[in-house]
Amino acid sequence: MSGVSPKLGGMTANSTTSVSIALGDRSYPITIGSHLLGDSQTYCALPKANTAFIVSNTTVAPLYAQRLAAALSSHYKVVHQVTLPDGEEFKTWETLNLIFDALLSQGSDRKTVLFALGGGVVGDMTGFAAASFMRGVPFVQVPTTLLAQVDSSVGGKTGINHPLGKNMVGAFYQPLMVVCDLDTLQTLPDRELSAGLGEIIKYGPIADAQFLDWIEQNLPQLLARDVAALAHAVKRSCEIKAWVVGQDERESGLRAILNFGHTFGHAIEAGLGYGAWLHGEAVGCGMVMAAHLSQRLGLVDDAFVARLTTLIRNAGLPVKGPILDTGDNAGRYLVLMRLDKKSEAGEIRSVVIDGMAKAVMRSAPDAMVREVIDACCR
Ligand code: NAD
Ligand code: GLY
Repeated sequence: MSGVSPKLGGMTANSTTSVSIALGDRSYPITIGSHLLGDSQTYCALPKANTAFIVSNTTVAPLYAQRLAAALSSHYKVVHQVTLPDGEEFKTWETLNLIFDALLSQGSDRKTVLFALGGGVVGDMTGFAAASFMRGVPFVQVPTTLLAQVDSSVGGKTGINHPLGKNMVGAFYQPLMVVCDLDTLQTLPDRELSAGLGEIIKYGPIADAQFLDWIEQNLPQLLARDVAALAHAVKRSCEIKAWVVGQDERESGLRAILNFGHTFGHAIEAGLGYGAWLHGEAVGCGMVMAAHLSQRLGLVDDAFVARLTTLIRNAGLPVKGPILDTGDNAGRYLVLMRLDKKSEAGEIRSVVIDGMAKAVMRSAPDAMVREVIDACCR
């Protein structure tokens, strides 16, 4: 794995832009801009079908489902909807079955196009439903959180959680397109906005030093939801993710760099119970812990750790890990970290930073990981 230097792109508040995911016959566009979700033109290039099926949740559906359904009614004879319970704790088999129940009871066929309208939870579950319903039906991502626009809707990872591990059951399955309507970010709670900033910050240390500088300089605008700043952040994040996924769709190597902060982060999410900390919060804190590990491995200096910690804190994210066990806290982290999909033969492997804008996968002795956890938790 080495540093990534894709081209830097720029965007203004009112422009619509597109980033391509290049995957041969599974290539697709990510359209980014304002006023997209309710515009029937947005969906013109999709294949013809009788039925569209909007999957959303109890929070997002009342805000945006009617607008999306109206736009889709220009292209589809019938537009059905299913509304799921809201929350990471509902990213389960039981909720997935609600999608299948609705698809089957409302006469869907193999050409039915599923539209995932919501954050990463709705997107991951709808994608997995699309991958498995009738052995695969087309789907479109309409992400409405910052995190989903910059990460989860792009790249085809779909799935659900298992009580023993996060995202443990799923499939790689690419959407037909991704529609990032920046206007939807105006209704996002502040905490969710910060969670999305965590995944945006991630792209700096793993791939793009200039982008990290830009995020530091433009953090106030991002927190104030300035549309031009959000547009640039979403576009640049998608460009970097597209560059990575285009080379390693199924994570046989390079794609793992997108998991910077996730080995610690997933342990926090599973250890506290899904939903207690937001995914982006756990990843933000996990990046601080992974930066400390990088420093202990001799790959970065103290100044790098301090810089990243300050940025993550200023983005409104936690920088101290929670206590998962009042007895052997580090031991509990280690148990959960070993469940990570990157572990091999019980050995914890994490993404660490090896100099700015370069991420590598490393294993570290348990004793060193314990020291990091002890230093980073309260
Ligand atoms: P989420 O889907 O739970 O959404 C966060 C909250 O915001 C929810 O309550 C949701 O209903 C609400 N919401 C969504 N859009 C809104 C809007 N426009 N206005 C008001 N409220 C809105 O969380 P998330 O952070 O979007 O996604 C996290 C999930 O994504 C996790 O399950 C994580 O594992 C997954 N993920 C997947 C990938 C991937 O590559 N597939 C990558 C990163 C994260
Ligand atoms: N979010 C990590 C990935 O898509 O690979």
